[in-house]
Amino acid sequence: MLNSGPKLLVALDYSTADQCLALVKQLNPSLCRLKIGKELFTAAGPGVVESVQKLGFDVFLDLKFHDIPNTVAGAVKSAANLGVWMLNVHACGGARMMEAAVAALQAYQHKPLLIAVTVLTSMDESDLLGVGIKEAPETVVQRLARLAKDSGMDGVVSSAKEVNAMKSALGPAFLSITPGIRPATAAVGDQKRVVTPEQAIANGSDYIVVGRPITQAENPAQACAAIAASIAD
Ligand code: C5P
Repeated sequence: MLNSGPKLLVALDYSTADQCLALVKQLNPSLCRLKIGKELFTAAGPGVVESVQKLGFDVFLDLKFHDIPNTVAGAVKSAANLGVWMLNVHACGGARMMEAAVAALQAYQHKPLLIAVTVLTSMDESDLLGVGIKEAPETVVQRLARLAKDSGMDGVVSSAKEVNAMKSALGPAFLSITPGIRPATAAVGDQKRVVTPEQAIANGSDYIVVGRPITQAENPAQACAAIAASIAD
C-alpha cells in the first residue's frame, strides 16, 4: 500500500541541494519520508528529488499546482514520471482541474497520492474577503475538502486541530496531512497553532509534516528518531 510506512514527513526547506543532501544523509528512510517544496525544487530541480529517492526515501512533492486543467494534468504526469510518492494541487483550481489531475494518473501502475490544499493557513477572514470570499475560513476549508474528495483526490493538507471534524465529515480513508507540528520541547518559531506529534496522530492525522524541529536540531538524526518513536504504534 502506498500509504503504509513512515507517517513522519520531514520538510526540506533549503535553498541548495548540497544543504539538503547533507541533512538527508543523516536520516533513515525507515523512519521518515521527505517533503520537497517550491524553494528547493526551484533552486535545485528534479535532480534533487532523484538524489534523495536514490538514498531510499519517498518524496512528497509540495508544489501546490494551480493552473488550467490541461496544464495541471501535464505537471502531475511529470511528477509521477519522477517517481514521487505524493504530490499536491490547490483545491480552488476547481473540480475540473482536480479531476484532470486524477485522470492524468489513470495509466500509471504506481500512482502518487494526490493531495489538495484547501485554504492556506496564512490566510484569515480578511484575506479571504480581499479575494471576494465572504465566508469564514473553516467553512471554505470544509467545502473545498468535500470538493477534493468528490473529485477523486486522496486527501487534504489541514491543521491537526481540524482533523477530527474533517474525518467525521469525509470518512477515515480520506487522508489528512498536517503541518504545524512541534514536540513539546521544540521552539514554536513562526507557527501559530501548534500540535504535538502524539496529539496530531491521536486526532487522526495520517501524516505529520515536521521541518525545523528536525532540520535545525543539534542532532537531526536523534530528533527524527525521537519523533518517529513518539508516534509509533
Ligand atoms: O519548520 P516547520 O515544521 O514549521 O515546517 C513546516 C512545513 O510545512 C513547511 O515546509 C511549511 O511550508 C509547510 N506548511 C505549513 N503550513 C501549511 C502548509 C504547509 O507549515 N498550512
